[in-house]
Amino acid sequence: MKPIIFNNTVLRDGHQSLAATRMTTAQMLPAAPLLDGLGFGALETWGGATIDSCLRFLNENPFDRLDKLKDAAPRTPHMMLLRGQNIVQYTSFPDDVVEAFIASSAKHGMDVFRVFDALNDARNLRTAIRAVKAAGKHAQGAICYTTSPVHTPEKLAAFADELAALECDSICIKDMAGLLSPRIAHDLVKAIKARHSLPVIVHSHETAGLALASYLAAIDAGADSVDTSIAPFANGTGQPDTVRMLAAMAGDARAPRHDIHVLADLRKYFEGIAGELAKFMSPANDRVDSDALCYQVPGGMLSNFRTQLVEMKMAERFNDVMAEVPVVRAALGWIPLVTPTSQIVGTQAMLNVKFGRWKNLAQATMDIALGKYGRPPGPINGELLALARKQSGQEPMTGRPADALEPRMAKLREELTAKGLAPTDENAVLFAMFPRETDAFYHPKPAAPSAPAVAVVATASKPAPAVVQPSAPAGRKASYVLTVEGHRYETTVEDIG
Ligand code: CO
Repeated sequence: MKPIIFNNTVLRDGHQSLAATRMTTAQMLPAAPLLDGLGFGALETWGGATIDSCLRFLNENPFDRLDKLKDAAPRTPHMMLLRGQNIVQYTSFPDDVVEAFIASSAKHGMDVFRVFDALNDARNLRTAIRAVKAAGKHAQGAICYTTSPVHTPEKLAAFADELAALECDSICIKDMAGLLSPRIAHDLVKAIKARHSLPVIVHSHETAGLALASYLAAIDAGADSVDTSIAPFANGTGQPDTVRMLAAMAGDARAPRHDIHVLADLRKYFEGIAGELAKFMSPANDRVDSDALCYQVPGGMLSNFRTQLVEMKMAERFNDVMAEVPVVRAALGWIPLVTPTSQIVGTQAMLNVKFGRWKNLAQATMDIALGKYGRPPGPINGELLALARKQSGQEPMTGRPADALEPRMAKLREELTAKGLAPTDENAVLFAMFPRETDAFYHPKPAAPSAPAVAVVATASKPAPAVVQPSAPAGRKASYVLTVEGHRYETTVEDIG
């Protein structure tokens, strides 16, 4: 019997789930060689929210991060999470942008692409999976797990047929909300294994305290691989800790072997990093969240909700809004609750409670009803569909959403050139998804000069910036000293508003 393979998620989902995706490359690099030597099936190091976070919060080029992590951990395959046609954003992108993103990621060393669609609409996965195969990399198709009258284990297993038909190399059961019970995990794995010989990977979150038990049940049913992380970026809203999972498998002939002393060293190391990231970590993320079970919504959605309702002065309507969530979800064909659908359903539930059911429709609600995100799992409520058609003046879309999108790469390259940025594929795909953040990354605004005479030093090997953009208020002057190849130039820059 083949041993179970553990993938390690500490460098992606671990800190995304427990520390708001704020771990920096510098904080990851010392751990990378240790992780690389432990014999994990794959290291999840990229994708999901990390690309957004690199640009928005950490002032890092995401492709540089991938290069450095590949150098530091060259032996273990690297894995990333990709939202199908949404790449790592919230809306659909044209095929040529999806293809360029995947080709660039492959060129920088990405090995395993875990691809999912929030609606489990295989048409939103096709381009991405083909591009992964074309790059000679491993395409892992994911089934988003959720509970609803239309999401029976048989139907979810049948989605595996569509993934197999796309020639995926493996199948992941992706339980983003941590709602998968051991019994269902067992039955789902059995049902997929009965239909396909592809490896089956289970990915869950310990949010509701079920993940470890569900992993064990999935393993008994013949799963090949599970995702674990390393505490303190494990358990709670993250994946089960690797040492804990190893202990739970003691006595099982399929238990993998990982050096627990190295794992202990890594835990100690990451405790230090958790200290540095303390302000992004919440004790609430470490608790077993039974509210998530009561309301059958992801834990992250609950905490967002509580904050939003307070902001909207609707805190006392929490129970009403939670009761409205399944109504909205049912009307939208029981879409799974995962980014971005969880936000859309939550917002519409609040609007329904505040203004009366369907009295005030959010644009995104209408877009889902009209098929712009893909084919919902069940039928759209007739009343809601009629309102969406009337208010938008549009007919439902039946084709693949991305078919309505024009190719964009040529235009993106022109836009980059116009901004003085290198028109590389890497820049183009980042700019397509995060235009403001990519622009700000390459054109950092100098801090507002608090006193005149700010020294700007350009090294000999780098030309001085052609344009200096002070952020002084209109009418203010600032003096700069520019040093170019050893020569000093004094200059005054005045903001003319
Ligand atoms: Co996850």
